[in-house]
Amino acid sequence: MVGRMNDFDVARIRAHMPALASGVAFFDGPGGTQLPDFVADSMRTAMTEPLSNRGTMTQSERNAESIVLGSRLAAADLLGCDPGGVVFARSMTEATFMVARTLAKDWGPGDRVVVTDLDHDANVRPWVTYAEKAGAEVAWARLDPTTGELPTSHIVDQITDNTRLVAVTGASNVVGTRPDLPAIAEAAHAVNALFFVDGVHLTAHAPIDVEQIGADFYACSAYKFLGPHLGIAAVDVLADLVPGGKTSTTRRDRLVRSMTALAEHEDRLHARLRSALEDLPGITMYAHARRRTPTEFFTFDGWDSAEVAHRLADKQINAPAGSFYAYEPCRSLGLGSGGAIRAGLAPYTDESDVDRLIAALRDIVVT
Ligand SMILES: Cc1ncc(COP(=O)(O)O)c(C=O)c1O
Repeated sequence: MVGRMNDFDVARIRAHMPALASGVAFFDGPGGTQLPDFVADSMRTAMTEPLSNRGTMTQSERNAESIVLGSRLAAADLLGCDPGGVVFARSMTEATFMVARTLAKDWGPGDRVVVTDLDHDANVRPWVTYAEKAGAEVAWARLDPTTGELPTSHIVDQITDNTRLVAVTGASNVVGTRPDLPAIAEAAHAVNALFFVDGVHLTAHAPIDVEQIGADFYACSAYKFLGPHLGIAAVDVLADLVPGGKTSTTRRDRLVRSMTALAEHEDRLHARLRSALEDLPGITMYAHARRRTPTEFFTFDGWDSAEVAHRLADKQINAPAGSFYAYEPCRSLGLGSGGAIRAGLAPYTDESDVDRLIAALRDIVVT
């Protein structure tokens, strides 16, 4: 039986993913997920109905107004935050550069900013760039390359009384590691520092509650959770990943229930992927943290990772190789600029995809 476990019905979700008709097994979700038909339909409606600048006078102004306000409400439901605090930018990278530029106006020599080498460059470069411009010091919290963990103590040790900002990922986009965000928030707030969380990879895999995390800023990107690059239409799809209760519960309740069921489903599928990968000859695996997303990062002895990824693509399996802008983690893990092969699960991944990936890898590395 494929994918029907507890509440999470992967076959139902797959039926709404037109891209799966291509026959490709997609493990490239951490780079960007495929788009459900609901989202494409909703974008088409938004873009083909009368639309102009926001306002209340004409229908086209009202349509624009309702799309913006509706998107803020959807983002707030997704993240458990106040809709008034939701800001859209073209990408997480752009948003982070904007926040860094703004905050840094108030930084100077003697101030400190804490970043980590578990993070994607989008949550490193903006802070380093603007801290340097302001003359502030940058301190690095280091991940433990053998365990893949970023222990809270490694961050807390870098937080001093003059720390103005702590920037940490919710989950690594290459090895999945999920740092203990509430504990880090507490340490940052104890010295009145702001806490910026990169939620781009995490938001696709777990229910999020920004209040509970304690983040002052939480950034994410719709194209990693079934949306286009900018399209909060996708939140309703996440809310109904597990159908039912539409009339009696709020969208936030449905989101938490659906994302919890997704996380359980992905945990099971991840265990299957992980143990099968571990059995492959010559594999080195880089994702080990106790708490992490279902994202594996690996190389094979004697194989160029890009070559393996090419051979997988020839078999209609998307699991690309690279550093994926996670420059610091790759450096810390002892990987060169070629990085490693990344296989990530998405809501539409099922057992047959995992079995295809494993069979194809075995074929490639054993022959
Ligand atoms: C963990 C993480 N952070 C940040 C980004 C950058 O997001 P965006 O493309 O929205 O700038 C990515 C994209 O791959 C990511 O995986």
